[in-house]
Amino acid sequence: MTKSFATRLGDIQPFRVMELLARANALQAAGHQVIHMEVGEPDFSTPEPIIRAGERALHDGQTRYTPAQGIPALREAISRHYQDTQGVDVAPERIFVTAGGSGALLLCSALLLDPGQGLLMTDPGYPCNRHFLKAFSGEGQLVPVTASERYQLTPELIDRYWADNTRGVMLASPSNPTGAMLSSAEMAAIAETVRRRQGFLVADEIYHGLTYDEPAISALVSDPDAFVVNSFSKYFGMTGWRLGWLVVPDNAIRDVEKLAQNLFICPSSISQSAALAAFTAQAKEIMERQKEEFRQRRDFLAPALAELGVGVPLMPDGAFYVYGRLGDGLPDSETFCHRALEEQFVAVTPGTDFGFHEADRHVRFSYAQQLDLLEQGVERIAAAIRNQSGTAS
Ligand SMILES: Cc1ncc(COP(=O)(O)O)c(C=O)c1O
Repeated sequence: MTKSFATRLGDIQPFRVMELLARANALQAAGHQVIHMEVGEPDFSTPEPIIRAGERALHDGQTRYTPAQGIPALREAISRHYQDTQGVDVAPERIFVTAGGSGALLLCSALLLDPGQGLLMTDPGYPCNRHFLKAFSGEGQLVPVTASERYQLTPELIDRYWADNTRGVMLASPSNPTGAMLSSAEMAAIAETVRRRQGFLVADEIYHGLTYDEPAISALVSDPDAFVVNSFSKYFGMTGWRLGWLVVPDNAIRDVEKLAQNLFICPSSISQSAALAAFTAQAKEIMERQKEEFRQRRDFLAPALAELGVGVPLMPDGAFYVYGRLGDGLPDSETFCHRALEEQFVAVTPGTDFGFHEADRHVRFSYAQQLDLLEQGVERIAAAIRNQSGTAS
């Protein structure tokens, strides 16, 4: 008799983009030149000052456990970062350094929900968020959103979808896969709606810093009691160092500390020391230059896809993705992406990775890729569209 695992596993889907990446890498190893437009990480390496600080940390013996909450110097630096970028006071005691934004999301999932309770979130959205909740027997209560509400929750949608077992809202601004950002007025209106319902507001702000027209406004500006997730992965270019943070309200500090101690003991000591350099002027100059490159890529890719007949109703405000709608006559997004990879060697991610709502008609195109390669990628996508036109089932 085979032993079965927990039933919750049935509701947790694989993160397909990781599987797609593995297939793209296998094709590459077999000698094909694959254009990667599936990736969710900056193509730039970690800024040099951060690398050097990481090396120093290793040589100085920063290789042991740190406090569960993270080293004080880093929490103070993050606190100053909020003062400088958002004009809000966030005491270092309210900041938990975590293993990427993922670690922060895991802490929130463990803290906020009893089994059977849920948080409202957008569909499409970052899939791991609902799976984190599921891992603690909670649920992501998906709210279908379209370009007409700028792919974000609104007070009306929150009121319409709020159920008896809803405990709050989890939003992402800018969002993955759409790059759509909430304005400060929209964020304030959402915060007010959630407050009226005495719910929790969780804001995933891991693409802060990577916005191209307006700076992103933190949920903390509208709601000092929001749970805010951030990361060193994207703007700071530190995906592999696995470092992020969580801001919690005063009354949650003790419980989150217990969870952090038990779940992780502490975040990586080396990464924390390295991240101290992420707030220096030298590192900032590099990151701002990289951001400017992302902007140029966005400004190239979104109109180029639209010219191929891919629906791009909204210019992404931030992150490094364009979420496009496949034209009529093309097959479903999984078939389209599979064939584009196998026949044209261009890797793009089907919308089905990000939810259910019209997911089989959408594709996420990442521009975390050099401009000349993006240009080649667009040519290959054009060929994929030509080859697959008229094959819709
Ligand atoms: C919206 C969003 N949240 C969280 C994460 C987790 O990232 P990390 O754990 O590297 O900070 C990602 C990664 O792509 C993301 O897109």
